[in-house]
Amino acid sequence: MVKIGLLGLGTIGRGIVEIINERREYLKAATGVDLRIKTALVRDINKKRDVDLSDIILTDNFEDILGNEEIDILVEVTGDLESAYDYITRGLKAGKHIVTANKAVVSKYFEEISQLAAEKDLAFLYEASVGGGIPVLKPLREQLALNRIDQVQGILNGTCNYILTRMVNENKEYDEVLKIAQRLGYAEADPTADVKGHDTLRKLRILASLALQGKIQEEDIILYGISNISKLDVENIKKMDSTIKLIAEAKRVYNGFTAIVQPTIVKNNNYFANVNMAFNSISFTGNFVGELKFYGAGAGKDPTANAVLSDCLDIALNSYRKGNPLGKESLVNLNSELMGRYYLRISKASRDILERLEDMTKELLTDEQVIKNKKEGFDLAIITKLVKLSSLNDLIANLGLEKDQYFLAKIME
Ligand SMILES: NC(=O)c1ccc[n+]([C@@H]2O[C@H](COP(=O)([O-])OP(=O)(O)OC[C@H]3O[C@@H](n4cnc5c(N)ncnc54)[C@H](OP(=O)(O)O)[C@@H]3O)[C@@H](O)[C@H]2O)c1
Repeated sequence: MVKIGLLGLGTIGRGIVEIINERREYLKAATGVDLRIKTALVRDINKKRDVDLSDIILTDNFEDILGNEEIDILVEVTGDLESAYDYITRGLKAGKHIVTANKAVVSKYFEEISQLAAEKDLAFLYEASVGGGIPVLKPLREQLALNRIDQVQGILNGTCNYILTRMVNENKEYDEVLKIAQRLGYAEADPTADVKGHDTLRKLRILASLALQGKIQEEDIILYGISNISKLDVENIKKMDSTIKLIAEAKRVYNGFTAIVQPTIVKNNNYFANVNMAFNSISFTGNFVGELKFYGAGAGKDPTANAVLSDCLDIALNSYRKGNPLGKESLVNLNSELMGRYYLRISKASRDILERLEDMTKELLTDEQVIKNKKEGFDLAIITKLVKLSSLNDLIANLGLEKDQYFLAKIME
């Protein structure tokens, strides 16, 4: 019997209990593994929980789990950052394997926890932290042995993808769709971490560090969220036979890397254009295996709990990759070299702004008549020539634009 200490009994914790309750006997017969949750840690032990907890001891004291020598695996699904770090590191020091779904703690303490787990010869697995239910980290780790991975790319946040899909399909403004997403449970009451891109950035930090085998931290990644997009942008993008996605991408270039999360305009016949609503997709490219694409539910109770339990099963079967998966390549940050053609919309623009953008502009999307006839500022949209992102940003800074006054998106070639 493999005994689990479950840290957290919220959405994902409940899903884990439900799957074990339903599948325990089948699992035992099929694999010989008898997974059992011994104790579960919560903040409030008196809270009513809509799940069958028979045989599980509830506690609000982590020491009850840490000190229990019968417990082999700690499953961390609290969502808390610093206390999760504390539980994980103390758990490893006490000889327990770790499985977590918490991208924030993996992203912030990736190197330290990976090293500690390797030193202790214990598992530290976090499949559910990237892409929710999509098994991508395990195949990535497996391919690393034979391949040099040069690129990882993906739609990694279901909330953003849901909002963008509905804006494109229904010609609605961003605020209106955000409210619908909140009402239907696709966006949180405070959507900042999702719509400003921080959640995507953390997942890219994890993917990029594994894939490129160098230290690529949160501050090494350029970040643009989706919260400035307007109905006008969507109308312009649709006229380009395209749609819009928040895409995270890390690439090996020369002796370094680029890493960026940015709204990206993709042609309607592009693979990513068909990843819609709350679905996620991740691709990585190895020099021998070529490009591999993964698609599925990026979040949600059952798919995420399933990913967590797949990690537990790998530990129970002793079939997980051992050792520290992080490499020691010293890669230079080459984000200053990022180039492309970009879509730029500026609200309340003046003629002066248009003139100053002229050198970079390949195509003006705003009708000249609109510009001429507006006495006050107008909404200006352009497509740039092939330019460096850094030069475009310098220009935007020189124009003195407020952050919420413009929307910038890369055009995927
Ligand atoms: N929800 C998803 O679709 C999804 C997808 C992928 C990854 N994840 C990740 O999975 C993790 C859990 O998410 P969730 O949606 O299940 O969260 P949640 O519904 O908010 O549940 C959190 C649970 O952890 C307990 N908890 C919180 N802080 C704690 C602390 N400091 N010490 C002990 N227990 C604590 C809470 O106890 P009480 O019940 O007593 O309040 C609750 O049971 C997060 O890291 C999240 O990023 C979630």
